[in-house]
Amino acid sequence: MDAVATVATALWAMLPAYVPNNAAVLFGGGPPIDGGRTMGGRRLLGDGKTWRGTAAGWLAGVGVGLLLRELRDPVSDALGVALPTLPLAAALALPLGAMLGDIGASFLKRRTGRERGAPFPGVDQLDFVVGALLLGAVAAPSWFFETFTLPVLAVVLVITPVLHVITNAIAYVLGLKSEPW
Ligand code: CTP
Ligand code: MG
Repeated sequence: MDAVATVATALWAMLPAYVPNNAAVLFGGGPPIDGGRTMGGRRLLGDGKTWRGTAAGWLAGVGVGLLLRELRDPVSDALGVALPTLPLAAALALPLGAMLGDIGASFLKRRTGRERGAPFPGVDQLDFVVGALLLGAVAAPSWFFETFTLPVLAVVLVITPVLHVITNAIAYVLGLKSEPW
């Protein structure tokens, strides 16, 4: 695989995991998942993790995954790159894993004394990638290991924090997010 194909594969396969966070910011609100419960005097997850945001994020990611399944052949032809075809299981698992990774990070943030919205450098940028990759590997193992070769994984780990910082900065400037991370 050449460099262009490696980057295109990484972006294509991860797109269903990139969308959920942004959809959650747009559509989040309402009752928090933890129902206000606390652990050791701090919120279990906090008000930033809601049922609505999580469902919206997952659905948006699945929608993108289904769209990518339809677009794979024409886009591959147009680019001259053999893009990966997402199995249905991956289209469901990648966005769910992204949301669960983000929720897991909030759990960690609360346990380490960070208030809602406090930055946790590294974790904020990669929590959803780790969740998406783990669940993707469990849900569609043969596709996963065929698609996420070491070079593709390396590209994902480099590009994702960059994309995350850029999209969050945009969301902040647009007033959609109260902090730029
Ligand atoms: N959001 C949501 N449900 C989720 C994830 C996000 O409703 N599962 C919405 C919330 O409105 C949240 C916003 O998206 O405030 C931004 O998400 P994020 O930065 O992950 O949450 P924070 O508010 O920063 O909280 P935390 O410190 O727990 O990350
Ligand atoms: Mg945050």
